[in-house]
Amino acid sequence: MTLPPVPTSISGAYDVSAFRNNGHRLIDMLADALSASQSRLPAVLPWRSPIDNMPTWALTEQDMAGGGDAVARMGEVIAASTKLHHPGYAGHQVAPPVPMAALAELVSAYLNQGMGVYEMGPAGVPMELSVIRWMCQKLALPSTAGGVLTSGGTIGNLTALLAIRQLTAGHDVWRQGAHAGPPLAIITSTQSHYSVARALKIMGWGDAGAIAAPVNAQFRLTGAAVQAAIDQAKQQGRKVVAIVACAGSTSTGACDELAEIADVAQAHQLWFHVDGAHGASLALSADSAHRALVGGIERADSVVWDAHKMLMMPALVTAVLFRQESHGYAAFAQQAAYLFASGSPADTWWDLGQRTMECTKRMMALELYATLVAHGESMFADVVARQCHVAARFAQLVQQSPDVELAVQPDINIVCYRFDPPGVALAPEQLDALQQTIRQRIIASGQHYIVSTRLPTGTYLRSAFMNPMTTEEDLQALLHNVRLRR
Ligand SMILES: Cc1ncc(COP(=O)(O)O)c(C=O)c1O
Repeated sequence: MTLPPVPTSISGAYDVSAFRNNGHRLIDMLADALSASQSRLPAVLPWRSPIDNMPTWALTEQDMAGGGDAVARMGEVIAASTKLHHPGYAGHQVAPPVPMAALAELVSAYLNQGMGVYEMGPAGVPMELSVIRWMCQKLALPSTAGGVLTSGGTIGNLTALLAIRQLTAGHDVWRQGAHAGPPLAIITSTQSHYSVARALKIMGWGDAGAIAAPVNAQFRLTGAAVQAAIDQAKQQGRKVVAIVACAGSTSTGACDELAEIADVAQAHQLWFHVDGAHGASLALSADSAHRALVGGIERADSVVWDAHKMLMMPALVTAVLFRQESHGYAAFAQQAAYLFASGSPADTWWDLGQRTMECTKRMMALELYATLVAHGESMFADVVARQCHVAARFAQLVQQSPDVELAVQPDINIVCYRFDPPGVALAPEQLDALQQTIRQRIIASGQHYIVSTRLPTGTYLRSAFMNPMTTEEDLQALLHNVRLRR
């Protein structure tokens, strides 16, 4: 039997001129979308219920037959999607990607370097390690530091916690199992991201694996609270192995008192992990006051840092950094004879899959690398400073409004606030419900997208000012819409 020629269905899919033409059309379409968003033309969230939206995106028999205009369909996807580049976007902590990073993502998708092993990323691996070095330097970690990029802060925290467990449990967890030693625990704050608790549960530590220390009035975890939690853990018979602090908590953006916590960690010889998924970027800010908020991060044993939050990268680009680069090998201590050479994993440091959850690993450094080359470090410094300045200005406007309450002075680009009309006695549930009504009204207006959060004193509106193109007028309009009585 001889192999028949490549079917036209396949050769057509790889046709060079179709790729060129579709690509040009697509980039034009995206540039038009960027222009429209910057002009505030489309609704930030073109809201339709999930039930109404399901039939719109169902694949039809005609679709299955092929031959359709996929680029035009992508135009429909653009129109129907949430517009992160609209300056009214102030919702979840997801960035409006810098266009250069979006272009880099296209290159990354085309090249598809499954770079768990060096041979599948001869450019991608050294590029990733250069980006990691840059990130370590920006956090002022020592020259021994290193790490990898992985798929999001959630997996980043899990990766770090797996390494911490292997390195601190007192036995070889990888081979002897998680329960061969005493029950372990970490100390974290009541405000830490759910990915920390989730990771501990994946690791089989259960509810008692996290001792949640209370935060102060600024929603920050302090050294004193950590010390009290350590004392409490001793009474409960748990072996505390690490403190997980947060730089930029999810609800309010508060930065824990890292330097104080580093002191406590040092005094008790505990691992000091910083979940800087959101706020490690403060270290890059052009404003020294922002950099001061993460003072102490340079003393961390490990740090998680998302570039797809304040650094304007498309999701997902997360750095997991270790003070001692070699500690990164402890997270996944497996051997895979068909992939990695035998011997110490550090001997083949270029096979990054030894240090990540992913086996096939996306070339995610290119976005940061290309953006640095195109726009320089100073763009990141300005972007981070701008996001925080926008939030600080909005908080100021809120404080000047007698009917809107600021939950806490923002540390970063996240502001929590609620409408509380004076002279109207509302029960707590009514006040909570009012915030949700306001949020729905604001989303329906198409001018802004905001979210909400639950704090100990009730439900608050929450704006993460991710878009550095947001202006004073956008802030004034948002506040006006919050206060609108209808
Ligand atoms: C503090 C913090 N840690 C971790 C995460 C999880 O990151 P990701 O969504 O990239 O998995 C988030 C997400 O918002 C976060 O705010």
